Amino acid sequence: MIITLANFKMNKTLYDNKVWAEKFCELLFKGRKLSSKVGCAPSFPYIKTMKDVLIGTGIYVGAQNMYFEPKGAFTGEVSISQLKDLGIDFVIIGHSERRHIFGETDELIKKKVHSAASNGILPVLCVGETLEQRKSGKTLEIIEKQLEALEGAKNHIVIAYEPVWAIGTGIPATKEQIKEVVDFIREKSKKYIKDFSVLYGGSIDEKVAEEISDICDGGLVGSASLDPQKFYKICLAFDTV
Ligand code: 13P
Repeated sequence: MIITLANFKMNKTLYDNKVWAEKFCELLFKGRKLSSKVGCAPSFPYIKTMKDVLIGTGIYVGAQNMYFEPKGAFTGEVSISQLKDLGIDFVIIGHSERRHIFGETDELIKKKVHSAASNGILPVLCVGETLEQRKSGKTLEIIEKQLEALEGAKNHIVIAYEPVWAIGTGIPATKEQIKEVVDFIREKSKKYIKDFSVLYGGSIDEKVAEEISDICDGGLVGSASLDPQKFYKICLAFDTV
């Protein structure tokens, strides 16, 4: 499955989200018909509005995070059942900003992947190495460890390779660097699940998307996705099916 997702991170107001949806739909429905999936992950408070605004468009709406317990005394957290209640289509899990700013561990991330998958929500598992890990030759070892989150999962899962050093820096990984890790992810993931897609994320623009569309199943887009026009062009570039 080819899929291109927008991760708005902690950006956009309610108004901005609605304007984005309106402009993106305009581009999507006036332009070439896409055969791949596209979606966006707004901040929690706007998920319901975006689901309502995008109803019937086929555009996925997802969450940027979740907690694995179904309910209980977990102040400030949001469970997958609550997100399911809003009708979300996917959930981003283990984003490097969650791992590095909020200290999420591989163990916690694994629980989240399982909670999402067992609730029928598509998990988008993010994996990626830091610059230090790359420089010390540990990239594949780190990725392999992070992929253990897939163990025991059955449904379709999206894996996003997002090298930490390429996120928000304007310096994407090279095609060779992406290919090496994406091929490795495909090989290792087979051990756990049959059905998966592998995306790339990290300073993607239209040019990067065109260049890597033959080696990835789509992209997870941060900064460029905030602009509906730029995101649409990236979706077009990945839509090679
Ligand atoms: P940028 O596209 O801003 O580098 O962010 C990538 C990302 O973190 C998507 O999840």
